[in-house]
Amino acid sequence: MKKQLIMGASVAALAALTLTGCSTARSASSSSSSSVSVPKGSTIGVALPAKTSQNWVLAKAAFEASLAKAGFKADVQYAAATNTVPDQQNQISGMVTKGDKAIIIAAQDGSQLGTQVKQAKAAGIPVIAWDRNITGTADVDYYVAFNNYKVGQLQGQALLDGLKAKKASGPYNVELFAGASTDANAPVFFNGAMSVLQPKIDDGTLKVLSGQTTFKQVNTDGWLAQNAQTRMSNILQANYGTATLDGVLSPNDTLGRAIIQANQTAGKTVPVVTGQDSETASIPLIMNGTQYSTIYKDTSVEAQAAVDLVSTLSKGDKPKTVLDKKNNYNGVKTVPAVELTPVLVTKENAVSAYANNPTLEALAKAGQ
Ligand code: BGC
Repeated sequence: MKKQLIMGASVAALAALTLTGCSTARSASSSSSSSVSVPKGSTIGVALPAKTSQNWVLAKAAFEASLAKAGFKADVQYAAATNTVPDQQNQISGMVTKGDKAIIIAAQDGSQLGTQVKQAKAAGIPVIAWDRNITGTADVDYYVAFNNYKVGQLQGQALLDGLKAKKASGPYNVELFAGASTDANAPVFFNGAMSVLQPKIDDGTLKVLSGQTTFKQVNTDGWLAQNAQTRMSNILQANYGTATLDGVLSPNDTLGRAIIQANQTAGKTVPVVTGQDSETASIPLIMNGTQYSTIYKDTSVEAQAAVDLVSTLSKGDKPKTVLDKKNNYNGVKTVPAVELTPVLVTKENAVSAYANNPTLEALAKAGQ
């Protein structure tokens, strides 16, 4: 009975949209959450990007478990490795057409989904950007992610701390890497890191021999390891014939391992490399000192936070969100967000940081 009423309200809101245009529909949906209907038992779409890092691989099972437990059906799809953006666009349109009742999206390219989220909005389907924001549109309803700026700050501070631990005083030679320019997170990570590192570049503590210090110069196309490895090799060849590279800001573990590999191939050791994601391939490297740090962003917790939001909508309640412009402004609006707290992990705290995750905890313990 209640469901019918809610759906009736949704139809009324859509009718208002058709008859009188957006403004009426907007006020209808903001004055009452009953214009959105996400019944228990309905199917929730989850559109994930290409598997460029382990977190995306883990995401499918995490969503399927959380959605099942909350009483929803899961429709989880990955964008293909090639033709990735159109593939994801088609998947999201398909979710709208099929009638998925909410759509959770981790964007391959956050600037290329305006048409699809508009389509969802017109059909009364709430859109939740997950981990990566969707930019240039007012039609994204919520954003669930770790605090990305904080991730960057932790990475920048870890680079400084790691350098100090290896060599008491500078100057230190460092190189900087960032993620893909198509990922709204990548500049936020980089800006967070640079908020810590730029003052140290300015006062001469840090030297960047390549001279490449802007996001435009240091981003890594597609977050692909091969691209970071090639750039690192080229920088070593051009700038580090006799000079020593003391540390590298790497935005995640996959690229960190590629950066380490490039140094090893050149017959060099780089003492401090940062990371992110707590990938199983990087934990042993952290424990044996090859990589200095990573960040723990528990994928299950992040998926659960999005599913909790869906459950809240399902009850007709208003989700608790924050408006955090620095992290979550998408070029059109600050997307109401659920923000989770990332944790910095080094060899020192790895065992305790991974206490809730048997796989990671075992890897940390094995490397002690
Ligand atoms: C995620 C990172 C991940 C990167 C590459 C980012 O959007 O937040 O955790 O390392 O994408 O896949």
